[in-house]
Amino acid sequence: MLRCQRFSTQVQLHRNTEISAIVTKTALVTGAAGFIGSHLCDRLLADGYSVTGIDDLSSGRRENLSANFDLRVMDIRSGEIHEVIADVRPDFVFHLAAQISVSISAREPRLDADVNVGGALNLLEGIRALDYKSVKVVYITSGGTAYGEPAVVPADESTPVHPLSPYGASKYAVEMYLPIYERLCDLEYSIIRLANVYGPRQDPHGEAGVVAIFSEAMLVGKPLTVFGDGTDERDYVYVGDVVEAISLAAVNSATGPYNIGTGIGTTTDRIFELIAQYSGHTDSIVHGPARPGDIKRISLDASKAKRELGWLPQVSLEDGLNTTVEWFRQQAD
Ligand SMILES: NC(=O)c1ccc[n+]([C@@H]2O[C@H](COP(=O)([O-])OP(=O)(O)OC[C@H]3O[C@@H](n4cnc5c(N)ncnc54)[C@H](O)[C@@H]3O)[C@@H](O)[C@H]2O)c1
Repeated sequence: MLRCQRFSTQVQLHRNTEISAIVTKTALVTGAAGFIGSHLCDRLLADGYSVTGIDDLSSGRRENLSANFDLRVMDIRSGEIHEVIADVRPDFVFHLAAQISVSISAREPRLDADVNVGGALNLLEGIRALDYKSVKVVYITSGGTAYGEPAVVPADESTPVHPLSPYGASKYAVEMYLPIYERLCDLEYSIIRLANVYGPRQDPHGEAGVVAIFSEAMLVGKPLTVFGDGTDERDYVYVGDVVEAISLAAVNSATGPYNIGTGIGTTTDRIFELIAQYSGHTDSIVHGPARPGDIKRISLDASKAKRELGWLPQVSLEDGLNTTVEWFRQQAD
């Protein structure tokens, strides 16, 4: 399943018996200062890649990255991206920078498309300008929003794509461009469709990261309201498992798309109870009105990732939530 040796992170080149060089593989990560992007950067650096990040720090934080990390602070839509790509000459591009708010996308669909589609095309055009080499692109998108409200859960990749928000549509649109760019230039790609990711560093002020929102609020004693009756189900996958899936996709020739989730739906009330248990929160659950447009239940069948990438989630919900709450506790101290 591995495409070829050039995707091993370190390659020994023996030009003759005297000269031997170690070539380190280079990776460019967009959205590097964000929740998932920063964990991915940590992993790539640990695996021996030379890593450069791009982020406009609109929601990402410099502190998520090590002090000497090569972060280029810029908008994914900027023309400067092309200069960075020409400078870094990446072997791998991991594209995570995005406008991730469903409600902003509903209010400002043009802004959402500008960042998510326009930004991705700007990046792909920068890669296309590199006519000297092939690049592997790993595109990170959302399975939770692509399938809308599927009739069958867990949803596998044969489930009809039916986004219910501009965010879901803009993230999916880029999937359509990747095979086109594969033909236009020497580019390979894999598509990763994520379930609900949680873990340390997730923004507790965003709208989607319910684990981060509950953890922070419970630890500092902020009042909390669960939207709807608490029976909505989502598929919660730990960020460490997600980074493993992305790393496996990078060195695999298959394009996917790959669902990355646990296949298990967990209700919002259950998440509340577990985080309350780990954080020592004793107030009972308060339910409020449901948010318009929220889907009732979604979980992702990741059998294809298991078959083709050898990926399986390793972290149980209990362990992952406990680790996350402990991380938020340290931040609050
Ligand atoms: N967290 C999840 O549950 C989840 C689920 C499905 C898909 N995803 C996808 O994973 C990716 C990463 O999401 P995340 O949860 O880490 O969110 P995040 O907000 O922490 O990360 C996104 C990063 O992109 C940066 N960014 C945003 N707009 C930018 C722009 N115009 N130019 C440059 N940088 C910009 C932000 O500053 C941030 O650091 C996104 O593409 C998202 O669609 C996440």
